[in-house]
Amino acid sequence: MSEQLKNPETENKALIIKASEILEQNEQEVEIERRDGDKEKILVRPPDKGYYEGNWLWDTGFNELGASLQNPEKSAEIFLNFLGHSQWKNGLVPHILFYKAKPERYFPGPKYWKTENSPDAPDYFTSGITQPPVLGFCALRIYESLKEKTPEKAESFVKEVYPRILNFHRYLFRERDPEKSGLVSIYHPWEAGLDNSPRWEDALSKISVSKEQLAETRKLRRDIKGLVAKEMRPTDEDYARYLYLFRFAAERNYNDKKVYPEIPFNVKDVLFNSILYASNEALYLMAEELNDEKGKSETKEFLQKQRKGFEELYDKDSGLYYDLNTKTGALIKRKTVACFTPMFAGVTTMEQAQKMAEILKGRDFQGEYSEFLIPSTARSDPSFHSKAYWRGPIWLPTNWLVIRGLERMGLSQDAEDIKKYSLELVKESGFAEYYNPDTNEPLGRGDFSWTASLAIDFAKGGNYWQKIWNKS
Ligand code: GLC
Repeated sequence: MSEQLKNPETENKALIIKASEILEQNEQEVEIERRDGDKEKILVRPPDKGYYEGNWLWDTGFNELGASLQNPEKSAEIFLNFLGHSQWKNGLVPHILFYKAKPERYFPGPKYWKTENSPDAPDYFTSGITQPPVLGFCALRIYESLKEKTPEKAESFVKEVYPRILNFHRYLFRERDPEKSGLVSIYHPWEAGLDNSPRWEDALSKISVSKEQLAETRKLRRDIKGLVAKEMRPTDEDYARYLYLFRFAAERNYNDKKVYPEIPFNVKDVLFNSILYASNEALYLMAEELNDEKGKSETKEFLQKQRKGFEELYDKDSGLYYDLNTKTGALIKRKTVACFTPMFAGVTTMEQAQKMAEILKGRDFQGEYSEFLIPSTARSDPSFHSKAYWRGPIWLPTNWLVIRGLERMGLSQDAEDIKKYSLELVKESGFAEYYNPDTNEPLGRGDFSWTASLAIDFAKGGNYWQKIWNKS
């Protein structure tokens, strides 16, 4: 490699060009199918080009966050297409907006979700559960990118997304925290975004899986049929429980009043709640811009409640934040990348953050080739596996949350180190869905949208988030 190419700035430029190409290549005009049989042409960007046939909630947010630094108008359009078509009448934003009634590859498609059972479902095909609520802070980033290029479009964008996202958060506090603890619950590992994290092991073990269910799962699941190696994905037992849980909600017509108390999986997820907090702050800033006094006091109340809630999740002995299993009332003490995400919400003390930064530098959260990459599960956890999805592999979205969290707590050198190595990982191994922390090898699907987008944010984003937190 020539000296010129080794120059980090030149390398970053090349990386931004390559990442933008992937994002463009993954973008599609689809004829999205409605439940009444009609079709409509819209612009979308799925997680990858081969397997995923829909827009996922937190992928859409993260994808457009970085993509908007290159082409904000397109990102605004894709973001709104997702939100506008997928949102339910009760405010829920589902984790998948399907393009077709019968996806060709992806399982479980609409026929299994049966969202038509709910009077709240929209006119399009969606799943019936949600995902980490990144939409608030991602929308704010898109809005700021738009403001620089086309201020008129920025205004109409914020006016459309703000009330919708506020409605989503209202849904979360109303239906997912009826006891008003300040922490909202998830019903399903898919809602966590970190599907097979060992954090769910105990709660899932209470759901027994019969031989028939296992056989059915093996027959139905498509993710490992020639697409991704089996060892890189959740096990059949896990998958059978995933099916059981969403069917449980579908059988109750997705009526939260019934699902919330009855479903065997009900967890106050620390990562989900940290993300919700940051999105509430973003909504507060949007409410300020729009002079919405009611929205300002409402989001302020959300934030106050949440801050109290987080106090319940801190474990002094280990110096980490954990999820709370509402069925047992106990913290789920498994060390994973999720434990560090309250820094992103800015709800930790400085002392707690410093301790977390030290833990991050320990062997548990190091890569084999660098001290600064973050395995999704600690090396000392009994479930650690360098290839198994969220049980060890490195993922850019979780690295992003920790990096921005360290920055927020003023630990900028630590943040810089992880950012630098995240970029090197992508330069070395391409834009993979996830990476092996022992070898840096790319895992899962290739040319992945959120990896490309977040690499652009790292290479080009500057100190945008710092400015935002100074306002919060
Ligand atoms: C997997 C991931 C989830 C992601 C989805 C689409 O299910 O676990 O976090 O949103 O794929 O990329």
